[in-house]
Amino acid sequence: MRLMDKVAIVSGAASGMGAATARRFGREGAKVVVADMLQDEGRAVVASIEAAGGTAMFMALDVTDEAGWKDVVRATVAAFGKLDILVNNAGISGSATNDLLDSGLWDRVMAVNGTGVFLGTAAAVPAMQRNGGGSIVNLSSISGVVGQSFVHMSYNAAKGAVRIMTKSTAVQFGKDRIRCNSVHPGLMPPMRTSGATADPVVRAKMLKSVPLGRTGEVDEVANAILFLASDEASYVTGAELYVDGGYLAM
Ligand SMILES: NC(=O)c1ccc[n+]([C@@H]2O[C@H](COP(=O)([O-])OP(=O)(O)OC[C@H]3O[C@@H](n4cnc5c(N)ncnc54)[C@H](O)[C@@H]3O)[C@@H](O)[C@H]2O)c1
Repeated sequence: MRLMDKVAIVSGAASGMGAATARRFGREGAKVVVADMLQDEGRAVVASIEAAGGTAMFMALDVTDEAGWKDVVRATVAAFGKLDILVNNAGISGSATNDLLDSGLWDRVMAVNGTGVFLGTAAAVPAMQRNGGGSIVNLSSISGVVGQSFVHMSYNAAKGAVRIMTKSTAVQFGKDRIRCNSVHPGLMPPMRTSGATADPVVRAKMLKSVPLGRTGEVDEVANAILFLASDEASYVTGAELYVDGGYLAM
């Protein structure tokens, strides 16, 4: 098992790629904290990990809440003794509105997708320092590297912030043996909050920019997160891993 005896927190683990990652971590021997606002869905992910023989617990978390993050880290260490891995995965879509100049969406996306990642990192680092190291994996996107005509620029800005915050974290806390890397999914199953990017017509257009010619699967992203979270990536930090079927290579 690739995460034997590791303790991991995955934010936004009630759905999509976070849920796939939490399940995979459970199968690889990690004790997993499923942290999300969606309680029923989050508890169902915990139940599925336990049914597969793994260990997990649910914690309600709004990633924009600093005190909530501290509670999650405290409860994780209390339950499982330490914190090895944080996956900053929770996020909302940049196509939740068709108005590309909506200032309300700017605030919401920056708060969840940008500030939420900083707050998770800030809560996890002291616990990882006490632990003698750790691995943080941040979910950015192809949208953190290039602009897109139908995505609100807050999403690009927040995912771009995540991309560079990842490198700041790697540089500032490498001395504590904390690694930090970003994963950049491309065209994946729509998010719960997706608008235009869930539209089959828009998706068909996007698909033309994917050399592999298909949508990615959530488990393909979980595989990349697993590698970076695990000790197999012990000399990999500050890196960005594209899981995009070649989108950014075009
Ligand atoms: N689906 C895509 O096409 C795609 C592509 C690139 C990157 N991403 C990124 O990957 C990550 C996961 O996306 P997904 O496709 O699994 O989406 P999803 O909508 O299926 O899951 C997102 C999860 O985050 C949770 N969440 C949202 N706001 C939260 C908050 N304030 N506090 C706590 N939890 C919150 C949701 O409840 C949900 O469980 C996101 O960061 C997203 O931006 C997605």
